[in-house]
Amino acid sequence: MSELQIPASVAIIMDGNGRWAKKRGLPRTFGHKEGCKAIEALIPEAGKLGIRYLTVYAFSTENWKRSEEEVSGLMDLFRYYASRLLKSAKEHNVRIRMIGDRRRFPQDIIDAINMLEQETRENTGLTFVMAANYGGRDELRRAAMRYAKALQEGTVPPEAFAGKNAKVPEGELTEEGFAAYLDTAGIPDPDLVIRTSGELRLSNFLVWQAAYSEIVITDTLWPDFNIEELKKCIEEFNHRNRRFGGV
Ligand code: IPE
Ligand code: IPE
Ligand code: MG
Repeated sequence: MSELQIPASVAIIMDGNGRWAKKRGLPRTFGHKEGCKAIEALIPEAGKLGIRYLTVYAFSTENWKRSEEEVSGLMDLFRYYASRLLKSAKEHNVRIRMIGDRRRFPQDIIDAINMLEQETRENTGLTFVMAANYGGRDELRRAAMRYAKALQEGTVPPEAFAGKNAKVPEGELTEEGFAAYLDTAGIPDPDLVIRTSGELRLSNFLVWQAAYSEIVITDTLWPDFNIEELKKCIEEFNHRNRRFGGV
């Protein structure tokens, strides 16, 4: 096969941890633990492959509906993995960013998130984006509020508004101008969105950003996903014909 074209921006809905555990007669939290190992191993490998931005869906705005036991288990896992993630990011020149509304987390987790971003901001390799308490609709809602506030304060940059011959009427807010108020400001839209565990839906992930992403669904449950599986998804991506509305 000819050389694989590696997408610059890849996003993954890491799904199937619970089913992975259930198949083995283990508690759901055990599946989440294995899921953390899978992402920890994948980050440096994805960087080596040439991916520039890897965004993963770790916890949605809807996941708070789960049992108290499962939610607190996930928080504890984050606490444990935050320091490992920092160490690994430093070793592999990875820059970390978090999207989603971090305000809902306990203070120690907010501190850990801020620290991960702060300590890795100068790194120039892969950007690892973690979506936590993230929902696409919630992100759009918060972006609209930020924009409204900036408008009121007169801090919206002039280039956010269309000039002559733009694709929207002159003087109106452009799509790029609005996107600067999203959590993902500065992060390119995903070329490829992967969902594991066979579910055929977006579940509120990157609602704005995935408008023209190629979607690859694999039946593999997230804890079993690895660099070989990622390469298979990229191979499928290479067979797609992206038209962006053209012909
Ligand atoms: C994804 O796995 C991880 C999170 C949503 C936190 P699930 O926990 O959704 O696993 P399934 O879908 O129940 O198998
Ligand atoms: C999406 O998976 C959220 C994450 C992977 C973090 P869910 O398991 O929550 O999605 P649904 O409920 O199957 O749509
Ligand atoms: Mg699920």
